[in-house]
Amino acid sequence: MSMNPNRTSIVLVMMGLSILLISVACSEGLGTQKATAASLAQSSAGAPGSIEPVTSAVPYPLGLPSALKGRSVYQANCASCHGTYLTAVEKTNWEAQKNLPQEQWSEVTQQLVKENRQPNNPLWERKVNPDFYSADWRFEKTPGELFRLIETGKDRFGRLHPGPSGKMGEGWKGAIKDNRGGQLVATGDPIAIWNVVFYVWSRSIAGASPTRFTEAWNVYSQNCNVCHGTLGKGDGPLHKTLQPLPFNFQNYKAMAETTDTFLYWRISEGGQWTSIPESIQRTMTPEALKLYVHQWSSMPAWKGILTEQERWLAVDGVRSRTYEHE
Ligand code: HEC
Ligand code: HEC
Repeated sequence: MSMNPNRTSIVLVMMGLSILLISVACSEGLGTQKATAASLAQSSAGAPGSIEPVTSAVPYPLGLPSALKGRSVYQANCASCHGTYLTAVEKTNWEAQKNLPQEQWSEVTQQLVKENRQPNNPLWERKVNPDFYSADWRFEKTPGELFRLIETGKDRFGRLHPGPSGKMGEGWKGAIKDNRGGQLVATGDPIAIWNVVFYVWSRSIAGASPTRFTEAWNVYSQNCNVCHGTLGKGDGPLHKTLQPLPFNFQNYKAMAETTDTFLYWRISEGGQWTSIPESIQRTMTPEALKLYVHQWSSMPAWKGILTEQERWLAVDGVRSRTYEHE
């Protein structure tokens, strides 16, 4: 990705071209939420179901995946090995109340115990790593890669994960159980896998503190809305004055192939950079870097403006616009 600054003009022309190409690609179904649903109908002729026929085997979600819906998928399919995880509110309530007599429990804790999801229940003891409450396990991973790992039992590095029968390298495709009208059924719908991926993805935010989602939302709203828009569609009040346009975070396909490590670096450096450090490049696929990452834009460098902690909150702020969460 490295580029020589004195070739800027050529680069700019090339960028113009690639923006043109990318906007053509977007109009064919890789772009905004709106464009995707409508244009997929056209572009999927000859492709199975909701699977997009481009560059990768991952069937991208058409709308917002939901960590909220992922909770019951997780509890039904994954908790037997990975242990139970709570929402931020449940976690705070549980920690404050676990040693109190039952009459003093809040409604939240009563419900938790009624659903049998409380952490001291031996049924849901965590038997395997990682601990999803800690964020370390996912900084260098993409949601797309985790989708692949769960769906097929393997990721692109050849790492294996057990499936429904406990066998390593076995995928959950078609077998993962989802909640439909109060019943757990294997629907074969890949959205259940997206939902559960974002559920585990977001446990570290829920685990950090009950206000972490709000703090992340605030850092984003105060600094990024003006260009990227409230919902991250790239349509903030300033967007029309900019070329290239601010990134549309509802390009789920791009976001699903992006690591938090990359987002943090990109937010810190802004739009004027010459090369991406090797340590960050290797966390993403070459295709994703080529398709979604653009240089020489008016994106500000936030490293002198926001603290390190605020920039990580901005990462969560950006990411939290790409899935439904508590
Ligand atoms: C039979 C036990 C078992 C079940 C059931 C199970 N997992 Fe896992 N999972 C594991 C093991 C073992 C690992 C690897 C741990 C390691 O590498 O240290 C793992 C790792 C993971 C990771 C981390 C991957 C990474 O790249 O670091 C994720 C995410 C994950 N599992 C999600 C799920 C989800 C979602 C489900 C439910 C659909 C699920 N697991 C069901 C045993 C299980
Ligand atoms: C002055 C307008 C402006 C502001 C303010 C702004 N951005 Fe940007 N941003 C841009 C432009 C323009 C791009 C380049 C679009 C591209 O690369 O396709 C961009 C790109 C990005 C990207 C790169 C996405 C990718 O995958 O390559 C990220 C991440 C990002 N912005 C996050 C943020 C965050 C977080 C904030 C607030 C802390 C912010 N931006 C504030 C204009 C802005």
